[in-house]
Amino acid sequence: MIIAVDGPTASGKGTISKRLAKHFALPFLDTGLLYRAVGWTLQQQGGDPDNPADALAACNFESSLLDDPALRSEDIGGLASRVSVHPPVRRALDKRQKDFAGQPGGAVLDGRDIGTVIAPDADVKLFVTASSEARAVRRFEEMKRRGQQVDFEDILADILQRDERDQNRATAPLKPAADAVLLDTTNLTIDAAIQQAIALVNAKTSGRRDKDPA
Ligand code: CDP
Repeated sequence: MIIAVDGPTASGKGTISKRLAKHFALPFLDTGLLYRAVGWTLQQQGGDPDNPADALAACNFESSLLDDPALRSEDIGGLASRVSVHPPVRRALDKRQKDFAGQPGGAVLDGRDIGTVIAPDADVKLFVTASSEARAVRRFEEMKRRGQQVDFEDILADILQRDERDQNRATAPLKPAADAVLLDTTNLTIDAAIQQAIALVNAKTSGRRDKDPA
């Protein structure tokens, strides 16, 4: 079974996907990390994120980089969003994601274009959203917990800018697949969102894949 989870930044899709993978005993790929790895490598190489050739040159990163916590920063998230607009970068990362989705038994992948481009035949497609304010509050709280100095308005502006870039790029823009189920987490706790996601997968697959139905 392939489960495709797409949605904007801080919507809860990462946490939901990880928990779905655990619940249904499937391997999990956070595809945003691939774009983050390109952003990080480009920064090391002193490249220009808006130049497609520089961004493509940063696609040859070692897989071990994906475990580096340095990829998780807001700055690298912003760079990832900029390099991900270039079609050659998306093509360079395409096979890796499709191979992961196509492995025997299936997988859970989260990103922006999983249900539309990477796994258009996925058994279940979820599009996880939340209002921009709710997402900014979550990101703000998360950064404060990590002891970072943060300004709420800066975070909200960053989220709006990232949404705008992800939704309006020409190639593989962030948008729900025609057959995706929407999960709006604005007023849900993360546990409630996870329970709803499990229930949506079971509804789509008539509970066939669930050894431990919620
Ligand atoms: O964690 P967060 O949702 O903030 O970001 P992420 O999922 O790590 O993705 C970082 C950036 O990579 C996004 O803003 C997208 O521009 C890009 N991305 C993409 O274009 N396609 C994907 N399948 C995953 C991420």
